[in-house]
Amino acid sequence: MVEYKSIQEAMDQGEGKIAIRGWVHRERGSNKLKFIVLRDSSNTIQCVLKKDNFENSWDDIDHVQIETSMRLEGTIKKDDRAPTGYEIQVEKYEIVGESDSYPITKDQSKEFLADNRHLWLRSRRMTSILKIRSTYVQARDEFFRLKKFFRFDSPILQPSQCEGGSTLFEVKYYKDKLYLAQSWQLYAEAAVFSLEKIYNMGPTFRAEKSRTSRHLCEFWMAEAEVAWADLNEITELAKEELKFCIKKVIGERSEELKFLGRDPEILKLVVEKDWPTIKYREALKVLKEKCGMDVPFGKDLRTVEEEELMKHFDVPVVVTHYPTKVMAFYKPADEEVKDEALCFDMLAPEGYGEIVGGSQRSTDIKEMTKKLEAEGEDIKNYEWYFDLRKYGSVPHSGYGVGVERVVKWMCGLDSIKDVIPFPRTPDRFIP
Ligand code: 4AD
Ligand code: MG
Repeated sequence: MVEYKSIQEAMDQGEGKIAIRGWVHRERGSNKLKFIVLRDSSNTIQCVLKKDNFENSWDDIDHVQIETSMRLEGTIKKDDRAPTGYEIQVEKYEIVGESDSYPITKDQSKEFLADNRHLWLRSRRMTSILKIRSTYVQARDEFFRLKKFFRFDSPILQPSQCEGGSTLFEVKYYKDKLYLAQSWQLYAEAAVFSLEKIYNMGPTFRAEKSRTSRHLCEFWMAEAEVAWADLNEITELAKEELKFCIKKVIGERSEELKFLGRDPEILKLVVEKDWPTIKYREALKVLKEKCGMDVPFGKDLRTVEEEELMKHFDVPVVVTHYPTKVMAFYKPADEEVKDEALCFDMLAPEGYGEIVGGSQRSTDIKEMTKKLEAEGEDIKNYEWYFDLRKYGSVPHSGYGVGVERVVKWMCGLDSIKDVIPFPRTPDRFIP
């Protein structure tokens, strides 16, 4: 049995006999030599096939095209002229899967690349982004394991809303109607009375009406819910989680960040600094005094306002105490200042805006009923949720991180569509 090494492992070995496998990233040939740059998930390497060694099969080798999959055996050595510093003299080759003329060539339009997303995933750009995303998500698991949280999973098919009826996706469910999950939260609130500290990451669905560079119709939300925690504790947890994950990404994925044009040093500075917490009312003051924007109390911050506000910060900022009136039904009023809710958003710098949303949870059944009724909700659907307040309720809080929003910011990208393998937007759902 031949033992295959990844291209990176082969280069780490640096000399001697080697067997690798992968896909043809580039190829060029003359009548004596064929140069193949082979790619696998770890790296690329230049491989040379000499006609003298393959007289009988030269025609096959000569016709090898981009994205052909191959197994190669040969001798590796350092070569400063090769693109990644090493070269393999091929002694044995096998074509595993032939490739038609590959449709993705240089300078394709965004639309063309989106239509061919299933192939574009092989690009170095997408591979880098997906590696960063994977490292980020795995780091988050590690963070919560170290913190002794339990992972808890909730249903995707749900009978009611969590974040407002206007973005619900309806699903025909036998004779009934259900909705795709807008959040894990309501079910998490049931589980914290058993597991106390929980987290998850799950697909989340919102029928967003507008096309923006920060909204998807299907995205992944990474949520956490903690019994006994108040607003202050939960915002500090959110900061700690994000800093932990960004540090891991800098540590393990700086090459990928650099390839995407993102300087890891910028992120390093961000995690070393304190991330401030300010109240919504203070944010309005900054907007008025420093940005000349007069936002009346009682309005949620729009993208433009978030952008203006964040021009005055170079690290994420937690904004708390948004106006109760415009907040979701489960966000409680501050007992001392009733028009302010015990909730928060975390805003990222550099124009990236909201990346996290969370709150302490209301325990006031009357208030929640009033709000839900005003939104036209059938209270029957929430009876189970109100039960949680009837049987030994405790203060509890939680938050949801937009995975794509964080990855987009870490990578310094313009569009949220770049950080999910197969984006779903109002006009894009294939492939
Ligand atoms: O602020 P949101 O709506 O909060 C909740 O859903 C809470 N129930 C979470 C909780 O407390 N457990 O959403 C949380 C985060 C946002 O801050 C944003 O980063 C992201 O999810 N998000 C989206 N990301 C991509 N596309 C969309 N359409 C998004 N909507 C929200
Ligand atoms: Mg929000």
